[in-house]
Amino acid sequence: MNTKNLYQRASVLIALGLACCLPARAADDALFRELGGQPGIDKIVADLLPIVLADARINAFFQKADMPKLGVLLAEQFCQLAGGPCVYSGRDMVSAHDQMGVKAAHFSALAEDLQIAMETSKISSAASNQLIAKLAPLKRAVVR
Ligand code: HEM
Repeated sequence: MNTKNLYQRASVLIALGLACCLPARAADDALFRELGGQPGIDKIVADLLPIVLADARINAFFQKADMPKLGVLLAEQFCQLAGGPCVYSGRDMVSAHDQMGVKAAHFSALAEDLQIAMETSKISSAASNQLIAKLAPLKRAVVR
């Protein structure tokens, strides 16, 4: 193969590579960016924890909880779910909520509290709904 052909082939491969992967990458972390990146997510979680502790529907669950640790792990988890560059380092959702007796109504209450925390940060309702939708599949592991 001559040099010109080689260049042509290389540029086709590069174009294909860009077409396949670049938009996907950008779209993948779109939610993370809409939530304000890591500082935005940290603020959402910092706002969420006092809302949860003031919520009589669910605050009994958190009486003995290590709230600072929970905040760190929730921020990691939200970041990862939103396509950000984090790796959640906590327990899996079944182990973390085992024997707690969390019911569907408790799950909905927490989701509502999270929505309020996101409103406080002026997160768009589209982005807010997307994060809630990412959490919805975890319900089966949390509610037993
Ligand atoms: C999508 C919904 C939920 C998510 C993403 C979530 C996430 C988490 C995470 C990341 C942890 C820490 C795990 C670890 O220690 O390694 C945790 C613990 C815990 N969660 Fe959830 N959770 C959810 C729903 C709920 C609900 C509905 C309740 C009760 C109303 C609840 C109560 C707790 C409690 C009490 C702990 C233990 C905290 C501690 O012992 O320090 N969670 N959850």
